[in-house]
Amino acid sequence: MPVENQNTTPRRALVTGAAGGLGREVAVQLARRGCVVAVTDINGEGLAETITLIGEVGAESESIVGDFTGEGAPEAAVEKVVARWGGIDILVNNAGYGVIEPFLDATYRAWTRTLALNVTALAMACKAAGRVMREQRSGRIINITSPGSRMALPDYTAYTASKAGVDSITRAAAVALAPYGVLVNSLAPGMMDTEMQRSTEVDLARANGRDDLQAFLDERTRRIPLGRRAEIAEVAEAVVWLCLDSPKYMTAERLNMSGGLDKD
Ligand SMILES: NC(=O)c1ccc[n+]([C@@H]2O[C@H](COP(=O)([O-])OP(=O)(O)OC[C@H]3O[C@@H](n4cnc5c(N)ncnc54)[C@H](O)[C@@H]3O)[C@@H](O)[C@H]2O)c1
Repeated sequence: MPVENQNTTPRRALVTGAAGGLGREVAVQLARRGCVVAVTDINGEGLAETITLIGEVGAESESIVGDFTGEGAPEAAVEKVVARWGGIDILVNNAGYGVIEPFLDATYRAWTRTLALNVTALAMACKAAGRVMREQRSGRIINITSPGSRMALPDYTAYTASKAGVDSITRAAAVALAPYGVLVNSLAPGMMDTEMQRSTEVDLARANGRDDLQAFLDERTRRIPLGRRAEIAEVAEAVVWLCLDSPKYMTAERLNMSGGLDKD
């Protein structure tokens, strides 16, 4: 599919966690919509494939390989985008980490690793991009949250707590940046069969003593009111809508793309 709006200034986007799954799809869809796209991930090999896919669309890209939880890493990524293209119009905070761990077996390592990426790095990225967007008097930030943020999941509490943190940061950042016309929203995807979801559910089945993995997965799918798991592409379409098309009066919103799983 060709790049659209070739005669207008391309919007400058940064997508985190773009080596695969939702982040890669969002990056490629943004490229198709005429954006220049910087992508970042700890997985350099996957990121290189994403860069190839963006190149096939004919869009400019920038690759930033590294651990996003390092002190200063989110700020450095935003700086790289600004140095290359002179500003940043879109930030998609998509990188995420989670580990199945029964609540009474909680480990310091799992909690700190989860919160470092899903909460601290995300907040620092919002801050760094927000400072540039404040000067520009424009910009959009989209944080990827989860239906889990409002559920009691005792085998996945560090993750759900971190996503409740994402909801909190989204609200605060939206209010902090509203005077400058910068929009901050979040999106909660339902179950998509990505690398992360698949390995999480394998571990969840094990933690629940289930060795009939397919039956376990089918039971979970049946709980979704629409009766099926989400396609990565359709969730990405909704993220891209928030990046480019949603009304300018919409901020501090949480968009549910979970097939009816999340109803609030
Ligand atoms: N898959 C689902 O069903 C589902 C449901 C709800 C929410 N989500 C959220 O969607 C987002 C995307 O997840 P996905 O399902 O596409 O999984 P994914 O595993 O494909 O994507 C997550 C990416 O984050 C990267 N990452 C992990 N730790 C990192 C670090 N320290 N530094 C830099 N990058 C790091 C991974 O390498 C990976 O590419 C996540 O925020 C996840 O919590 C997913």
